[in-house]
Amino acid sequence: MYDIEAYIFDLDGVVVNTAKYHYLAWKRLAAEFGYDFTEEDNEQFKGVSRMACMDILAVMTGRYFKDEEKIQLADRKNNWYIEYIGKMQKDEVLPGFVDFITEIRIAGGRTALASASKNAALVLERLELGQYFDQVVDGNDVQKSKPDPQVFLLAAKRLEVEEQKCLVFEDAQAGIDAAKSANMLVVGIGKPDIQLKGADIMKPGFDGLVLYQLLRELNITDVAV
Ligand code: BG6
Ligand code: MG
Repeated sequence: MYDIEAYIFDLDGVVVNTAKYHYLAWKRLAAEFGYDFTEEDNEQFKGVSRMACMDILAVMTGRYFKDEEKIQLADRKNNWYIEYIGKMQKDEVLPGFVDFITEIRIAGGRTALASASKNAALVLERLELGQYFDQVVDGNDVQKSKPDPQVFLLAAKRLEVEEQKCLVFEDAQAGIDAAKSANMLVVGIGKPDIQLKGADIMKPGFDGLVLYQLLRELNITDVAV
């Protein structure tokens, strides 16, 4: 039986709707190669590090990028992304997130952010979300990106909680795979039409989500909430 002491959240597409800005920036870059980048294509980019996304983009567009060119293109995409998130408003935090994480903290749960993004600090600062996390681990802290479990294992280590006592919230297949490899339970966040394999439970979002009910659905009873 699991008993849960820590709650680990992915950022993009779980806490805030930044997934659409990543999508728009990749679409803008792909258009320069005459490629119409779709939302379906974007699913493959979710949870995946910036440079790994460049490798997928090369395959999609049938191009070969030398290392230097790859870095320049990734920088261009990132500059557009930073421009978009610079205009983001607090109402782009996904509905119910603040209430849900507040409920966790009141119940004595530890919290961490575990993101593949190197822009996580920027997003947290812009939306004043840093206060909700005991630990933040992002793309600057890890060498291997999701689906490797490193980001989640580092979050658990920094929280000083065993991995099997962590519950992860993820919207991307790479992230779900990473959480399972880390031996953690995972809540897949997404609409029913999104195909995510391996999540212990799927939820459309945090709106109306009640912590003790979620834990009960996961058959976790041995918790002080
Ligand atoms: C993940 C996103 O959180 O971060 C991916 O889901 C993104 O789409 C990745 O590619 C890296 O983000 P960044 O901000 O470092 O380019
Ligand atoms: Mg995500």
